[in-house]
Amino acid sequence: MPGLQAKSYRIASIPGDGIGIEVVESTIEVLKQLSLTLGTFNIEFTHIPWGTVYYKEHGRCVDPDVLNILRRFDATLFGAVGAPDVPDYISLWGLLLAIRGPLQLYANVRPDIDWLLIRENSEGEYAGQGGRSHLGQPWETATEVSIFTRVGIERIMRFAFDAARKRPKKFLTVVTKSKSKPMTVRMVNNPTSLDTIVGTNLHMDILSDLAAALAGSIGVAPSSNLDPTRKNPSLFEPVHGSAFDITGKGVANPVATFLSATEMLDWLGEKDASKKLITCGENVCEAGILTPDLHGTASTKDVVQAVCDEIVDLYERPPRVIRHPTKRF
Ligand code: NAI
Ligand code: MG
Repeated sequence: MPGLQAKSYRIASIPGDGIGIEVVESTIEVLKQLSLTLGTFNIEFTHIPWGTVYYKEHGRCVDPDVLNILRRFDATLFGAVGAPDVPDYISLWGLLLAIRGPLQLYANVRPDIDWLLIRENSEGEYAGQGGRSHLGQPWETATEVSIFTRVGIERIMRFAFDAARKRPKKFLTVVTKSKSKPMTVRMVNNPTSLDTIVGTNLHMDILSDLAAALAGSIGVAPSSNLDPTRKNPSLFEPVHGSAFDITGKGVANPVATFLSATEMLDWLGEKDASKKLITCGENVCEAGILTPDLHGTASTKDVVQAVCDEIVDLYERPPRVIRHPTKRF
């Protein structure tokens, strides 16, 4: 049992759609095992059913009080949003972008093998500034305006410099329009010449997908949406989407969400637990217990079981996880 000194964390769990539900459920199971075995922290999840199913019922993807609801938690663990029968602009703008911008989660951080990718997450090309004129006319016109403010740029650059300084190479690359093409080529041809990379919302959206593909599968790419001022709770999620093509087949790779959870633990101050979970995940991957996206034959459940077994083995304590009911929201 967790000791008296164990800190307790309240986490909002938003599994969302498709495999988001599968990978978040898997991650909660692993985190509960970690908490039980280590005994150094308690973690309580509150399930929040926002996403496209909620949209079909309520006409919106989230509760109107979304920001105040999330502010009651220490962090959010997010799965993915998107469904084949709901346009992406509704699911993306209605859920994720409704949280990231208003909560000022301005630093999107993606550790990827040897790189640290930092994406400006609150303005730029995704600022939501645009509209239509001459509706219905043949000359109907649409605009989408990119917003770059001094405050927005300065704070992400400061964050990026701080992050780069903490790494052994202490080397930061800034992606700009004129440098985005040679930079992209360098990621493929000369990857070791890069370390920390920072860029705008759109540039880094694209480049981080490339990084995930270079790492072997998007199924292992984690991300953090941070409010570095810590005024608002940060949100942690896998880079991938809801993957309709494999939903319900039991083969979704949960590793990206496990790694997102390690970032969450680290952010909350549970650095030792975070490192231990990374080690357990690495051991499982090295043992060849891999889902089909990594050319393995394991199911999602096999990977969860193997990571839970690793956690138990590392500390040689026998109790296997009891499935705690997750609180309903
Ligand atoms: P996707 O990331 O869902 O899938 C791309 C490909 O990667 C698919 O073949 C899928 O099977 C595979 N894949 C993704 N995650 C995997 C995992 N954990 N394990 C094994 N294979 C995995 O991207 P796609 O297909 O472009 O988008 C599907 C939906 O997800 C759309 O509605 C899209 O808008 C949404 N989406 C949501 C995101 C989010 O919630 N942050 C991010 C990206 C897409
Ligand atoms: Mg995601």
